[in-house]
Parts: sequence; C-alpha cells; structure tokens
Amino acid sequence: MDTDGFDRLENRKGTASEKWDAADKLFHGHDLLPMWVADMDFQVPQEVTAALERRIRHGIYGYTFRTESYFDAVRAWMKEHHDWTVRKEWICHSPGVVTALNLLVDGLTQPGDKVLIQPPVYPLFRRSVSHQSRELVTNPLIYENGSYHMDFSDLEVKLADPKVRMMILCSPHNPVGRVWTLDELTAVARLAEKYHVLVVSDEIHGDLTYGAHHQIPFAGLSAYTASHSVVCTAPSKTFNLAGLQISNIIIPDPQLRRIYLRQLGRFSLGSPNTLGVTAAEAAYRYGSSWLKACLGYIGGNADTVRSYIDNDLPELSLVPLEGTYLAWIDCRRLGLDKNELREFMTDQAKLAVNPGDTFGKEGDGFIRLNLACPHSLVLQAMGRLRKAVRAR
Ligand SMILES: Cc1ncc(COP(=O)(O)O)c(C=O)c1O
Repeated sequence: MDTDGFDRLENRKGTASEKWDAADKLFHGHDLLPMWVADMDFQVPQEVTAALERRIRHGIYGYTFRTESYFDAVRAWMKEHHDWTVRKEWICHSPGVVTALNLLVDGLTQPGDKVLIQPPVYPLFRRSVSHQSRELVTNPLIYENGSYHMDFSDLEVKLADPKVRMMILCSPHNPVGRVWTLDELTAVARLAEKYHVLVVSDEIHGDLTYGAHHQIPFAGLSAYTASHSVVCTAPSKTFNLAGLQISNIIIPDPQLRRIYLRQLGRFSLGSPNTLGVTAAEAAYRYGSSWLKACLGYIGGNADTVRSYIDNDLPELSLVPLEGTYLAWIDCRRLGLDKNELREFMTDQAKLAVNPGDTFGKEGDGFIRLNLACPHSLVLQAMGRLRKAVRAR
C-alpha cells in the first residue's frame, strides 16, 4: 500500500519548478514529459513538512546557525546508514555540493594543477574544474557487457602525472548508477595514496542505493583516506530538498578543513538557510522509514522500465541501477547521432530527458531518465518512447 503518497501526482506546473516549468523552453519542445534533472516529484516526509510549518509559524527568519541537535541528527544518520562515525567539527556547511566542489578545487589546487574526473559523469564536475582554470584529466569508465567499471590501469597512468593533484569521485555514480564496492574504492584509495592525490568524493546520492548495494564513505575507508579526502553529502537528493540549499561537507582532516572554511568565509557562504537547517534536521532525524519506502517505490519504477525494454524495446537497454534514482539507458542501437537522438526524444517521444552527451562524449547515444516520480509518469514516458520507436 502506498501510505507515503508516492503514487499521487502533484501538480508542479506553475510553481516555478525547473523540472516542470522550464522543460519546454530548455529542450525546445512542446508538452514534454519532464523526466530530466535530479529532483523528485514526491512530497517530503510528513515530519519535515511539520517541522517547517512550526518554524514558519514563528515568522522570523533571521540569520541562523546549526545547533547541537542538528549535528547530532547528521551524525546519527551517518552512523546508522553508513556505519561511519563522524565528529561534529568535521561537518562543514555548504549551500550546495556544486558550490563546495568549486571552493575545494579553488582552495586545494593551484593554477597549473590538473584535476581528474571519470566520465560519463555529472557535468558540473567538469565545470568546477574549468571555472577555476585548472586542467581537466579524464579517466573514462569502461562499459562492458552491459555494466560499468573503472579502468584502473588508465587511472594509474593518469594519477602518476605529478600535476594531477585532485580526483573528483562520483560515489554512487551519476549517471551510470554504480555503487562502488569496497574493492573498487580501496583500489582508488591505494592509487591516490601512491601518487599523493587528494580525493573529493561526491556522495550526494549515497543514501539512494538498492538491494545488496551499500554506499561506503570514502573518508571512512582508512586512516589515510580520512586525512586525504573530503566527502560531500547532502539531504537534498535523499529527501527532495534541493531548493532549500543545504549540504554537509565532511572533512576529518583539520588542515583541509581549515582551507575549506577559509574559502567559505572568503565568499560569505557560511551562514545556512534557516529553513534548510530545520528541514535537514527533521529529515535526518525522522526520515528513515520514508526513505526505505521511497527506494522500494523507485525500485518498482526501475523494474517497469526494465520490463518495458525487455519486452517491447529491444533497441534499448537499461544499465543496472545500483544507486541514484536515474536510469541510464543505452539507445545506441537506434543508430542516431547525438543531435538526432536529442531531436528524437524531444520531437518524436515528447520527453525531456538528459541527453547522454551532456555527461561527456562517453555518454553519446545514451539518455538519463529520472525515476523519482509516480509510477503513472513512468508508464506514460515508456509509452511515449515505445510509440516513437515503433513509428520510425
Ligand atoms: C553527483 C551530483 N553532485 C551534485 C549535484 C548537485 O548538488 P547541489 O544541488 O547540492 O549543488 C548533483 C545533482 O544532480 C549530482 O548528481
């Protein structure tokens, strides 16, 4: 039974929702079904709404800070969900993870340094490097027999370049949906240690994993990774709070933390959003059972996409979803180039989906489809896709 209301289709049109109100303009289409951008069409846990209502009734929204009980809630979440003991002072603020990535690249590398990413990957990794005028180095993931893995021999060659000072790890990986295993993370850590490369691990999707797949915080791997990495976390994807602008950048090492906090101060970003603090604390404190139900629901949506593809759309294949709520679909057998695929999705299928090439050229021929929506929307999206493919 859907007691959390995931089946209910909320009307988001006219709410200044980027996903719903900006899709047609951004994708140059008409009446597109918005299956793009990583936000959910679900209402947040009731306890979060109740906490916000209480806060709003107070009617005063001056500058705020994170209280002891905020830190307790974050620490308890990390312990319970990721078996990671986090100290209060490690938890640094950022309005968003992307803001933190920019501050970290700027503060922890020098002009002339290189930063490594693993495409196809969230496009703002690339931009957080280019915005600081650092040089980008890529270690593309390998797609083999329908699943992705890291190319460790290439990673070693790239990290051996003394100019490569930082690696931005996407863990779990957006868009390919991998939840890196202990062996994979340990191999990354070993190479990072060997070549003195700092790892910034973007774990914004870390709470969104399925079945036997569990997120392992990079800094929790060993004493070495604790002192040579930064872990970016947030309640924004987990609980659909992206618009409230709050994330937790966890930095165990005092020296790295000092540099990050200096960056926050430099750009006056240290004061959190009042409502964000309230919502995040309530989500971490009371949101476990909501999240469990939500992941079960999204898992059902993924099953629907898979069976649609298996039964009706042999031209496509769904990459196994271990984490995130983003389906990564291989459309290369349609035989379209990247511009034709974009046009096909917009003009024929009437879908707003993220084209694979926005994640790097390694994503050419793929699309990313957001599954955090009512089942009825997934059925509509797959119906539109089938009709368009059959009409070719
Ligand atoms: C890997 C990754 N990092 C960061 C973000 C955005 O984070 P924020 O909105 O906190 O800047 C996203 C959003 O989709 C993401 O997928």
